[in-house]
Amino acid sequence: MLHIDRDSGFIALHTAHTTYQMQVDGQGRLVHLYYGARCEAPRPFAPPQGDPGCWPNLLGMEWPAPGIGDNRYPFFEPEFADGTIAADLRFAGVDVLPEKYALPGLPAFRYGGEGVCVSLRDDTGLRVELLYGVFEECDLITRAAVIKNDGAAPVILRGAPSAVLDLPEGAGLDLVTFDGAWAAERTPHRAGVRPGVQSVGSVGGIPTHAHNPFVALCRPDAGEDHGDCWGAALVYSGNYRCQCELSAAGVRLSLGIEPYHFAWTLAPGEHFVTPEAAFVFSAEGFGAMSRRLHDAIRDHLLPAPWRDMRKPRPVLINSWEACYFDFDEPRLFALAAAAKKAGIDLFVLDDGWFKGRDADNSSLGDWVADPRKLPGGVAGLCAKINSLGLDFGIWIEPEAVNPDSDLYRAHPDWALHIPGRETLPIRNQYTLDFSREEVRREIFRQLCAVLDSCPVRYVKWDMNRSLANVYSAALPAARQGEVYHRYVLGVYEMQQKLTGRYPDLLLENCAGGGARFDCGMLYYSPQIWCSDNTDALDRLSIQYGTSFCYPPCVMGAHFSTVPNHITGRAASVEARMAAALSGTFGFELDLTRYTDAQLNDLRPYVDFYRAHGALLRAGDLWRLVPPTGRGAAWAIAAKDGGEAVVFAVGDVLDGRSLPLPFAAAGRWRAAAPGAKVEEWEGETLRRHGLPLPKAGGDLPGYLCWVCRAEPAG
Ligand code: DGJ
Repeated sequence: MLHIDRDSGFIALHTAHTTYQMQVDGQGRLVHLYYGARCEAPRPFAPPQGDPGCWPNLLGMEWPAPGIGDNRYPFFEPEFADGTIAADLRFAGVDVLPEKYALPGLPAFRYGGEGVCVSLRDDTGLRVELLYGVFEECDLITRAAVIKNDGAAPVILRGAPSAVLDLPEGAGLDLVTFDGAWAAERTPHRAGVRPGVQSVGSVGGIPTHAHNPFVALCRPDAGEDHGDCWGAALVYSGNYRCQCELSAAGVRLSLGIEPYHFAWTLAPGEHFVTPEAAFVFSAEGFGAMSRRLHDAIRDHLLPAPWRDMRKPRPVLINSWEACYFDFDEPRLFALAAAAKKAGIDLFVLDDGWFKGRDADNSSLGDWVADPRKLPGGVAGLCAKINSLGLDFGIWIEPEAVNPDSDLYRAHPDWALHIPGRETLPIRNQYTLDFSREEVRREIFRQLCAVLDSCPVRYVKWDMNRSLANVYSAALPAARQGEVYHRYVLGVYEMQQKLTGRYPDLLLENCAGGGARFDCGMLYYSPQIWCSDNTDALDRLSIQYGTSFCYPPCVMGAHFSTVPNHITGRAASVEARMAAALSGTFGFELDLTRYTDAQLNDLRPYVDFYRAHGALLRAGDLWRLVPPTGRGAAWAIAAKDGGEAVVFAVGDVLDGRSLPLPFAAAGRWRAAAPGAKVEEWEGETLRRHGLPLPKAGGDLPGYLCWVCRAEPAG
């Protein structure tokens, strides 16, 4: 709900449980007042030290501009033709938009919502339109900015934040970031905000494994089910910065494109659109914060055909950990036939299928089937897979090229490279210059030739390196600061074209595991491969950290073999199933080594997913016992509290009971796959908990569907 008082210059954005307030002050500055629990009356921004008076350094600002007395880090940096870097932006008007704004060429939350545009203007002709989106039911506030050059000379943007959020809470806040490495993505790190600037981000062209473009602020006493938390996600998949600055005025959180190697020239009349930033606030801890974000992502971000959580997602088998590069058509067919016996729906041919690709050192860029491995081409294999009653999917890595490829030999300048310097290969490959239309067109042409040749139901779009040697042969020296962002726009454009041309295609993004796991990619693909690490114990932590922002249904998760290929660890079938069923659910192992009886033993889990998949995709996540390094427990519960799937792994299974805070009153039934049904009172489950078995051995696991059989009388 929007509240705009044009006389007093007060603007409030209300969601079901939160309020965001700003005010035009006596000097025409747009001052930030408040973001927190829902309230109607204006809440003055009260910094811990000093009287804000008219000194911008102590004010909360909606769009802090440099050079006019706000001494906090100037994320926004417009450089004018005369060399000055300063902008005195004053309020120029506010408009209620007919609907929530969209951002051309950029992903943004959608399907409903309200929108407001507040215009600010500087005497030089610089104009900034601040866009606000309000999604009432899921407590989401979005922001973006359109920066316009209405002046007579060019302006170079050297920094352009998506949003800045000033909180007057001062030293009393913690910052939570989600960090890691390959095979260990998105581990939460929480620490008190320190004076000065702290940031996470990327200069690798993609978010990378190191950090995630989602951060949270919270009060020090906040926990899973209590306390104030602010979550902030950047809807972007390139170089980014999430920056927190503690000063006398409080905490300033800034999100946007990383200013390093960014310089965007705005000729007179041109404008620049920033990526979107999205915020939620919860006064009930991280659990509620995440559930609001999950609702927002499912209902207002995922691509249309897949945001309906009742629509079944196929249970897939992926060939990677089964065969790596070592396969031919009979081997793939045997794998698919075994998968069929386990009840699997879709066969995915991973890396290694195209011309000459026997290892990771050749052929990326040449997207035609290798006749040695696939004599009948992709279409021939697809027909054979289909004849088993399985659908077919395929792996691609469109942004990459190997030096040993026909494409590179024909167009060496299509790879990002700095003239006169050696180009750095990572995983033996270069990155194609996706800022160039002709490069994207050729790759798209090649991919369409494959996808048009047979019914491909699923595509896994991989990206196995970060960017380096970033220079585009197609842009002049003065515009090289645009390449990183133009690259991301190119990736978005191609994913839009791909899903537009094949509207029923299930697209899964991936980046050497989870190096590009962000809200930007989720606009195009309803699932992203979470990590190359499929070890059940490690997955507890990776999926736990990922779940602070992203819902389980978007996390690519597969049941794999033991000992695990990366960690060498063994885990029980139940533990591996619990980790995989808490994500998109698929398989990634050599099922041809399984006997018919063993394949049959997998069926109850596939059937379990078929029976409860809609609940697992649409339900609320409850993080019941955080990962300890030895185990964890969680549940996915229906919004009405009437049914849930409960998961427990590792040392949680010590015979104690697991309280289920969502369990509504009434008589409940609990059924683990293959076990007898037991009955409980909802009140008992909520207060005392569901009794868990005592189990030992290699990482034990337990999963159980609980359902309210009769409401309370
Ligand atoms: C990295 C991905 O994360 C893996 O799942 C697999 O697709 C390989 N790339 C293939 O090269």
